[in-house]
Amino acid sequence: MRDILPPESGRWRRFTDVFADVVERAGYGQLITPLLEDLGVFTRIGDATDVVTKEMYDFVDKGERHIALRPEMTASVCRAFAEHRPTTPWKVFYSGSNFRYEKPQRGRYRQFDQVGLEVLGADDPNLDVEIIALAWEFYARLGLQQVSLIVNSLGEPDDRSRYVDALREHFTACGDALSQQSRATLERNPLRVLDSKRDVDQQHIAAAPRIAEFYSDDAAGHFEAVLTGLRALDIPFAIEPKLVRGLDYYRRTIFEFQGGTLDSAQNALGGGGRYDGLVEALGGPGTPGVGFALGVDRTLLACDDEGVFLAEPVRLDAFVVDVTGGLQAAAITAELRAAGLAADRGYDNRSMKAQMKLANRSGAAVALIVGEEELANGTVVVKPMRGGEQTAVSRSQISAYLTTHSDQN
Ligand code: HAM
Repeated sequence: MRDILPPESGRWRRFTDVFADVVERAGYGQLITPLLEDLGVFTRIGDATDVVTKEMYDFVDKGERHIALRPEMTASVCRAFAEHRPTTPWKVFYSGSNFRYEKPQRGRYRQFDQVGLEVLGADDPNLDVEIIALAWEFYARLGLQQVSLIVNSLGEPDDRSRYVDALREHFTACGDALSQQSRATLERNPLRVLDSKRDVDQQHIAAAPRIAEFYSDDAAGHFEAVLTGLRALDIPFAIEPKLVRGLDYYRRTIFEFQGGTLDSAQNALGGGGRYDGLVEALGGPGTPGVGFALGVDRTLLACDDEGVFLAEPVRLDAFVVDVTGGLQAAAITAELRAAGLAADRGYDNRSMKAQMKLANRSGAAVALIVGEEELANGTVVVKPMRGGEQTAVSRSQISAYLTTHSDQN
């Protein structure tokens, strides 16, 4: 878990603001759910996933309720849908922290943030296309260029379970040739064996049956419609038959955005897909759902690597240097801030030299200097910090002066 300090924290906020701007213009409203839920909400994600079986921060509270810090937000959204029964299609977005007890490394943390969206109550393949297009637009707004999109379909639940059986048979026949870790994964979730990055497993994965052989007509039609929609919007993608994603609730379309600059173990910037059975599993009516979540921590690392969407220090219009005791600085900063300008000041009645050093470091466009002489004759010295003549301005005119001159500084 990490502390995010300024100015990096400002970049986090801008990140969420840009995301909200992109998706609100597409009709999504923000949903805020609790950080923790009844454990059962998350066990419905699937008991074959590491997220649920190994990584959950769960505990019994003072009221003897077994609860968990959310490891992701899709389950919370579906729980909220089942509880409030809003009209459909329900288009919501969210941002916030999630918790997974994973092995921390660059791009993988135990508390991490996501922004994401979900649409409940519509089956339309064009919706799968819409959400991918929104993520694509968001990456463009950040300035990221090295993002690639991979897509796959897991078919309908029946197709998927026949495929899982076929995989189990295939990998079981490999016996000891499969890595020990993959043999353990096979017991729990044969699909996840396809995710193995171990060399010894690769030839067996390459020879494994392909999901496309198991699609029903409906699943094949839905997937084809998604691909057609992506082509129509000129969104480049690759079909990745081995893509299975880490959560169990997916059906039909799944996709992932990968960053070109990150290590392959942590290169998923975000991902999502359809999860048509999740609302029902949480006690609601049968409701199709589709959505994605993008990792904030990891996407910002990708931004660092590409030198885009960098942290910006707060831009100050003025830094007040008051060597007459500090009351002038208090009054002037309050006046400037009320006039919509950004102003900071020195404290503790420090020397002129010390305060000018602070003014310099603050990055402010001008220093406003009040000494005994200025106090006596009712003026303030305006000193441009990036070159230019200093001038004395009447104390009563100072915010009007800065308002008209701040663009030029
Ligand atoms: P997920 O693939 O588990 O999907 O997480 C989405 C993204 O969150 C990942 O691609 C990654 O960028 C980020 N992420 C996940 N775990 C960590 C971690 N430990 N540290 C840093 N970043 C991490 C979901 O969470 C689904 N709820 C997505 C979804 C929404 N599917 C449908 N709707």
